[in-house]
Amino acid sequence: MDKPVVNLFFRLMGLHFWVRDLILPREKILREVGIQPGHIVVDFGCGTGSYSVVAGQIVGPSGKVYALDINPFAIETTSKAAQKKGLSNIETICSDCTTGLKNESVDVALLYDTLHTLSEPQAVQQELHRVLKPDGVLSVSDHHLKQEQIISRITEVGLFKLEEKGKYTYSFTKI
Ligand SMILES: C[S@@+](CC[C@H](N)C(=O)[O-])C[C@H]1O[C@@H](n2cnc3c(N)ncnc32)[C@H](O)[C@@H]1O
Repeated sequence: MDKPVVNLFFRLMGLHFWVRDLILPREKILREVGIQPGHIVVDFGCGTGSYSVVAGQIVGPSGKVYALDINPFAIETTSKAAQKKGLSNIETICSDCTTGLKNESVDVALLYDTLHTLSEPQAVQQELHRVLKPDGVLSVSDHHLKQEQIISRITEVGLFKLEEKGKYTYSFTKI
């Protein structure tokens, strides 16, 4: 069972992400994934909302971003970040696994810097597999894991196959 980190650690993480995003804007990463206006995106483990906010800007008013995190402080931080940018297409979900979304309703699921921390990666993958459209993409990156670890942790569950390895991300599609 995963547990939210304490707020002080979360704030320090936020500071680290702020510097990270200055060095490499998250838009560069999301453009690689092919997120388009009108897309429905789930940002699983949204943290401070770095990716959710940029994804919200890319998908525009006809799209939607579901920003999910186990940590209520992450949810609050992401909501505030979305408000600050004037985005009304970001909905937050406080959960450790289930999204409450409809079957096959999502174009892209982001799993960034979160795979390494999941105690039940299989359950999370089952949920993301359920909500992704048949041609949907599970986009993964995790600098805590080596390439082989990322690929094996996803493919060994048997729900996704590696479609493409980009400069920043790994794109998996449903089997
Ligand atoms: C290192 S942060 C990454 C945040 C964000 N994806 C980014 O890269 O900017 C990992 C996030 O995953 C969340 N998390 C960890 N386990 C989770 C779970 N089982 N369900 C939902 N969120 C989880 C943590 O609370 C944290 O906000």
